[in-house]
Amino acid sequence: MAPVIILFFLFPTLLVLLVAALSLRNSESRKTKCLNLPPGSMGWPLIGETIAFRRQHPCNSLGEYMEDRINKYGRIYKSNLFGAPTIVSADAELNRFVLMNDDRLFVPSFPKSVADILGKTSMLVLTGEMHRYMKSLAVNFMGIARLRANFLVDSERYVVQNLESWPENTPFPAKEEACKITFNLMVKNILSMNPGEEETERLRKLYMSFMKGVIALPLNIPGTAYRKAVKSRATILKVIERLMEERIQKKKEGTDSIGEADLLGFILEQSNLDAEQFGDLLLGLLFGGHETSSTAITLVLYFLHDCPKAVEQLREEHLEIVRGKKQRGVPPALTWEDYKHMEFTQCVISETLRLGNIIKFVHRKANTNVQFKGYDIPSGWSIIPIFAAAHLDPAVYDNPQKFDPWRWQTISGSTARIDNYMPFGQGLRNCAGLELAKMEIAVFLHHLALNYDWEIAEPDEPLAYAFPEFAKGLPIKARKVSFIV
Ligand code: HEM
Repeated sequence: MAPVIILFFLFPTLLVLLVAALSLRNSESRKTKCLNLPPGSMGWPLIGETIAFRRQHPCNSLGEYMEDRINKYGRIYKSNLFGAPTIVSADAELNRFVLMNDDRLFVPSFPKSVADILGKTSMLVLTGEMHRYMKSLAVNFMGIARLRANFLVDSERYVVQNLESWPENTPFPAKEEACKITFNLMVKNILSMNPGEEETERLRKLYMSFMKGVIALPLNIPGTAYRKAVKSRATILKVIERLMEERIQKKKEGTDSIGEADLLGFILEQSNLDAEQFGDLLLGLLFGGHETSSTAITLVLYFLHDCPKAVEQLREEHLEIVRGKKQRGVPPALTWEDYKHMEFTQCVISETLRLGNIIKFVHRKANTNVQFKGYDIPSGWSIIPIFAAAHLDPAVYDNPQKFDPWRWQTISGSTARIDNYMPFGQGLRNCAGLELAKMEIAVFLHHLALNYDWEIAEPDEPLAYAFPEFAKGLPIKARKVSFIV
């Protein structure tokens, strides 16, 4: 009986939605009749081609759906994705044009449900002056001075602690360990919280539930991941409010020993953000910085595993650094100068980011009617620049599917390649943490190459729709082997 009742109510609702979608589509096609839109297909009413677009595929490919559309329509095509008429761009020039005209011709376009959960003052959704202001706070906080003095020391501490906790010869998911490193580093520098403490663990759990909600279906009903994330966000904001009050009180009493060493102290000193704005900044940094960097660390383990020659060369580079320090009689801790000497390491990082495509695409919306390469991009339409398309283009990179860090030794002279390389985006909204991310991965590689051999314990591969994910978290088996003599 129950299914009959559900169908009784569901059928008319679906019918109404279908009619609404068809009349919306008709009015949209009347509006765009005189425009020269790129070729493409708008797919099914309502869902368009979203299901095919969201299908997972190896991260070093564009996937069947996109390859098929590019073959049929070319590198710029129209579609209907996420409920909106959309231009998909696998064209590196259009991608650059979109990013370089951020806030003028284009604005970010997260679905409202995602924007609500990220917060109205999250850098990821803000535009204009307020975006510039929040970005400047983040960029200043992660500037070179602080990278040298704080982040480098902390990265090294958390990397070493983590590697030392790896079980010998027993498989474990590498992604989970990488997440611990990047989370600990962020909360230490944002709120002076230490790993393992009760409050850090509580915040980690709240953040994980928040994260799941950002990417979940936006159903705000009891029991859903989205509802849990809304609740976690509210709890995180309460924790932040309390921490802010405690710090202000300590400052008044003259007992605050942290000062501007963490983001909370820096914000209290340098800005007048309230608890909610600070919370949005914190969640934006955690969201932008934790998952991305931990994925990069996992990918580097994955790609290097099949490239022993690169591991050997990395090991040599890092042994050289250690030997040099010994000869000069200086302490073994890594310095900024050591980091700047890691040339081959940087090639490994660049190649991992190229082939891993951690952020495969971003979402924007045209603010006004825009023309590009003879095509019209109507005001209000979404545009999705696919960064991965240039990274995997055989016209730009020889043998693009191959993990080849050596290609970066000759690439710096070629502007075509540099312009097409966008793992951190470009322009106004480029990554606020790109220097930090590269440094974290380099510090990880330093201690990994000097002290460990590893093998992949079970087959697992990075599959992407938007972000690469390992279904099993990349199970590896590690063996401590000190190469330092
Ligand atoms: C390998 C690691 C990383 C990758 C591949 C990456 C990639 C990106 C990309 C592609 C964007 C541009 C998004 C857009 O145009 O809409 C971005 C923005 C951003 N990233 Fe990263 N990121 C990484 C690490 C980090 C880290 C460590 C942090 C901070 C701790 C961070 C914080 C941010 C923030 C705050 C933004 C927004 C900037 C803005 O709106 O102006 N990211 N990132």
